[in-house]
Amino acid sequence: MENNIINASVNGKTTVLGIIGCPVTHSFSPIIHNTIANMNKENTVYVPFEPKPEELSEAVEGAFALKIKGLNVTVPHKVNVMKYLYDVDKKALSIGAVNTLKYTEKGYVGYNTDIIGVKYSLEKYGFDIKNKKVLILGAGGASNACTAMAASEEAKKIYIANRTLSKAQNLKENINKYYDTDIDVLNISDTDNIDNVDIVINCTTMGFGDKKDQTPIENKNFFKEKNVQLVFDAIYTPWETRLLKEASQAGVNTLNGFDMLIYQAIAAQEIWFDKKIDTFTSDTLKNTLSQYYRGNSNE
Ligand code: ATR
Repeated sequence: MENNIINASVNGKTTVLGIIGCPVTHSFSPIIHNTIANMNKENTVYVPFEPKPEELSEAVEGAFALKIKGLNVTVPHKVNVMKYLYDVDKKALSIGAVNTLKYTEKGYVGYNTDIIGVKYSLEKYGFDIKNKKVLILGAGGASNACTAMAASEEAKKIYIANRTLSKAQNLKENINKYYDTDIDVLNISDTDNIDNVDIVINCTTMGFGDKKDQTPIENKNFFKEKNVQLVFDAIYTPWETRLLKEASQAGVNTLNGFDMLIYQAIAAQEIWFDKKIDTFTSDTLKNTLSQYYRGNSNE
């Protein structure tokens, strides 16, 4: 037998991690987590699982019986999985969605590392959201995470602007059950009427896919008029959305959603293994994977 067909990197001591979603084949998470394992020379492997909604309870029970140490959870299971958990972290509870499960002897504990991921992204950028005025565009899953982050990090004021006002109102009410943050809701077409804001966070899908020519902020003078310091777009395909391009042309700092993608994975690793990931590792990971991602996406 030739030595080069022996693969000893997965062996009897390997720790299994994974992601459950349906569909899951598009997920970038296996590449991120297996790259972290390679970088840190850890004996772990991260694999995709695709239970259907009606199979979710058995999937979680089976994973627990197998003592799978950590799982990520993606669409459509982020809300429904909560009823199969032993406990849920407060930030995740405030938006009623988890994306990370940690094995404990009593059952899985749920977290939402999208909330931590966006916090790390802004921190890394050097932006402290405490006491800042924040405009959040959209009221879907990404917006829930960004709003919970802004509330838990003690933003001074949050505006949630959405096309469907009732969804923004629901989000405000859920967050205010856990945090007494000052939150106003408005229609996304009315953003010109708000006070100055320090940061704009786009969590709509405007700018993505077949909406790539759209922007949630039509008024190109908005950024200067409202004295905006930073525009963060949760989208990273295209790398620079129309919103980011126009903000940049107006002289405002911009950041896309790739950092949030990487940092939510880093936060999951920190939860699973109870240790901080150092800046060198996270910077190297971000640089390496952004080059890989951009090289393989059809922008
Ligand atoms: P995600 O989980 O990525 O946040 P989502 O839950 O589908 O995605 O949310 C998409 C967000 O983009 C919603 O806030 C949606 O507004 P509605 O709640 O009114 O649907 C917003 N959105 C999508 N297309 C839009 C458009 N053409 N104009 C304005 N808002 C739009």
